[in-house]
Amino acid sequence: MNISIETPHLTLRPWCEADIPALVSGLNDLAVARWLAFVPHPYTVADAENWVRRCRALAEADGPPAACEFAVELKSTRLVIGGVSLNKIDRHAGTAGGGIWIGRAHHGHGYGREAFEAKIRFAFRDLGLTRLVNGYFDGNDASWAMQRKLGYRRVGKVASRSMADGRQTTEHVTMLLRSDWQERQTTG
Ligand SMILES: CC(C)(COP(=O)(O)OP(=O)(O)OC[C@H]1O[C@@H](n2cnc3c(N)ncnc32)[C@H](O)[C@@H]1OP(=O)(O)O)[C@@H](O)C(=O)NCCC(=O)NCCS
Repeated sequence: MNISIETPHLTLRPWCEADIPALVSGLNDLAVARWLAFVPHPYTVADAENWVRRCRALAEADGPPAACEFAVELKSTRLVIGGVSLNKIDRHAGTAGGGIWIGRAHHGHGYGREAFEAKIRFAFRDLGLTRLVNGYFDGNDASWAMQRKLGYRRVGKVASRSMADGRQTTEHVTMLLRSDWQERQTTG
């Protein structure tokens, strides 16, 4: 399923080979990767090539998608500044997980929130899911601020580990219900 989503400043679209340099430059940065569970450090061209190959296979697979992985492209420059994903999609249960990263040079401009919001809308409105499960590592104030402002609630804690720096940490598990999201749409 090759899907693109337009937002005011961003295009969320499938990953392609031309994105490999942007992927390496965004993710080969411990300030970003330390908050992600499955990103190695250093993050190499080979890692980026594997990622793009995996995403292309996912997008081209028959049947309902198990995951949708989007490159986040800034409309004003056409540069890829991050990635956002909807994964572990379970249509039967109505649930999915996912994550996001935005390159350090582009933090604090509202792009994370805009991309995540678009992903949420896609999951609830277009895929008909009812519950999104996310999380963030202890100390990741930016991620929690972004999720809280989008209506996520903290529902628990689990032990986790950052692949990039190997530290053991606590992951705060977060959740957004479609009913809460719908209510926020009507109340603003
Ligand atoms: C988390 C991340 C995606 C946020 O992206 P961003 O584009 O910098 O965030 P935004 O500019 O959209 O900010 C969203 C909200 O959080 C707030 N915020 C951002 N950083 C913050 C911080 N460090 N502390 C407190 N609030 C913060 C912003 O003020 C904004 O609120 P507003 O909409 O009311 O203005 C980005 O910091 C990132 O990629 N970090 C590294 C990887 C990562 O942590 N991924 C998530 C893993 S769970």
